[in-house]
Amino acid sequence: MNNARALLTANDYQALTQINPVRQRKVLSVKNLCKSYNAHQTVLNDISFDLHAGEMVGIIGRSGAGKSTLLHVLNGTHTVTSGELLSHPEVGTPRDVSGLKGRALNQWRSECGMIFQDFCLVPRLDVLTNVLLGRLSQTSTLKSLFKVFSPEDRAKAISLLEWMSMLPHALQRAENLSGGQMQRVAICRALIQNPSILLADEPVASLDPKNTQRIMRVLREVSEQGISVMVNLHSIELVKEYCPRVIGIAQGQIVFDGSPAQLTPDVLHTLYGDEISQLH
Ligand SMILES: Nc1ncnc2c1ncn2[C@@H]1O[C@H](COP(=O)(O)OP(=O)(O)OP(=O)(O)O)[C@@H](O)[C@H]1O
Ligand SMILES: [Mg+2]
Repeated sequence: MNNARALLTANDYQALTQINPVRQRKVLSVKNLCKSYNAHQTVLNDISFDLHAGEMVGIIGRSGAGKSTLLHVLNGTHTVTSGELLSHPEVGTPRDVSGLKGRALNQWRSECGMIFQDFCLVPRLDVLTNVLLGRLSQTSTLKSLFKVFSPEDRAKAISLLEWMSMLPHALQRAENLSGGQMQRVAICRALIQNPSILLADEPVASLDPKNTQRIMRVLREVSEQGISVMVNLHSIELVKEYCPRVIGIAQGQIVFDGSPAQLTPDVLHTLYGDEISQLH
């Protein structure tokens, strides 16, 4: 048991996973994960937690704590230094996805989709094509070269855009969208890969309050459909409103794993130190 769980009783933790039976199914076990970018600094230090289907988990901590690194390591954009990432399929035995390469890594990145703060859309391409680009890792090289997508992929892209109220913009260039619209397209692009986990690194950092609420509601809906969502946030208010589970990271270690109601001033002080007064 790491110091995160020390702040919780076993019963508290169980309550989080008993909200909905589907959430009891484990989708990922992170075990003793460490990450160093160089010999002088350990950025993630002995991180362990389980993620369940349909959970919406807010990741909080001060700047430099290691939140983005955690998401990048989970999705395989950055390599693990040590530890295990066990993916639990619906049927079959868990497999360690921490050392994947090539095709297997691409496949994992589809299962564990990520949306980035700066959206990473192709500005000159239209919205529909940007969403379809999410399918590239599962499309043959030749077809992807000529951006040939199957009718099924197109139908799925259209229905995702419709769900996000973005269908009227389907043929518009991505560069002409507002920030909130770009973020919705980025979410569609991640969802078209049928992920079981969606990682979002500060998805509302550059958005106005209305679009912030809209994106957070979308992420909640995604989690309600059984996809596990992990979202890095700098706003404690948003975490309290949207995330039934919160993981707090300080200096690369989990120092809190519980419900927002358990985020006491002491916990927040451990997480943010003197920056606590700047929180909102
Ligand atoms: N590619 C990299 N190479 C070297 N060091 C890195 C790299 N990425 C992050 N770091 C370092 O790892 C530490 C954690 O960074 P990370 O970006 O994960 O923090 P964060 O919690 O996401 O911060 P913020 O809230 O500012 O986004 C920092 O000290 C950072 O300088
Ligand atoms: Mg970050």
